[in-house]
Amino acid sequence: NWTMANIADEAVEQIRAQVGSRRALCALSGGVDSAVAAALVQRAIGDQLTCVFVDHGLLRKGEAEQVEKDFVAATGVNLHVVDAQERFLAALDGVVDPEQKRKIIGREFIRVFEEAAREIVEGHADSEPVEFLVQGTLYPDVVESGGGTGAANIKSHHNVGGLPDDLQFTLVEPLRTLFKDEVRALGEQLDLPAEIVWRHPFPGPGLGIRVIGAVTRERLDILREADAIAREELSRAGLDRDIWQFPVVLLADVRSVGVQGDGRTYGHPVVLRPVTSEDAMTADWARLPYDVLQKISTRITNEVREINRVTLDITSKPPGTIEWE
Ligand code: XMP
Repeated sequence: NWTMANIADEAVEQIRAQVGSRRALCALSGGVDSAVAAALVQRAIGDQLTCVFVDHGLLRKGEAEQVEKDFVAATGVNLHVVDAQERFLAALDGVVDPEQKRKIIGREFIRVFEEAAREIVEGHADSEPVEFLVQGTLYPDVVESGGGTGAANIKSHHNVGGLPDDLQFTLVEPLRTLFKDEVRALGEQLDLPAEIVWRHPFPGPGLGIRVIGAVTRERLDILREADAIAREELSRAGLDRDIWQFPVVLLADVRSVGVQGDGRTYGHPVVLRPVTSEDAMTADWARLPYDVLQKISTRITNEVREINRVTLDITSKPPGTIEWE
């Protein structure tokens, strides 16, 4: 519609005025905010933008591919992918405490991003310097952080705060005046893939805080399969846009007895945590239709060998949080 087209054109003009012929970096998280911000900046300054995508191995099934293929195809953006899966797994080895997991993932993210940024900055040292860092900061984030600019304003889940002193960037924040629904409309205006535009919010620490217990590659793989089934059935039922988020949580240290085929099993439970919400500050458990829940339960227990029990979280927020960790 004309409003979004105007907003897009205006943002493009502003970005051009700010960045000129210099270069910018953007960390893509796979989420809608950084994707829309990057797509706008790409439209404004083209090849002067380089995006960095850190694959920390804690993503949902197919998400890395979506960024690497679909987002690049839709925008033509310059993408630098860092496969840091081993590094994150090693750093998380044996860690059980949720806040500890967050700290480690955040710290590793900054280190990996910093290394990539340094390479890119040095690669361009002889031409136009890399002076700008693109952030998908939304209006509610600006309000929440007191409206200031600078490092303190960087959303923690973008995980690029705390860069070292010799890597200083000026922020480009083209979404600063927008709400989430406007960002989605803008994403559609920019012809981004629907899977990216309509993606549910996903925490920066990813599946790392949805494996309850120590994080291992095997556990992540189990959760990734169960999570993909839940998402697929939600989409198939046409309910994506009625739900705020749908975490699937693996209780990796819990086992229960079951029976599958002709044998007794001793597998893990998963928890389905579909919620409705306006802003994630409060949330209610989503009343998903029984037949959708039944389909998800049957498919997960049939298709994911290690899981023999599917449970539903019926706690609102408060007192429960959306995530389990
Ligand atoms: P809770 O679990 O506190 O989550 O109800 C509220 C919203 O925040 C997301 N979340 C995070 N996002 N880094 C993030 O980027 C985090 O460490 C983190 N923890 C929770 C959660 O998915 C929900 O949307």
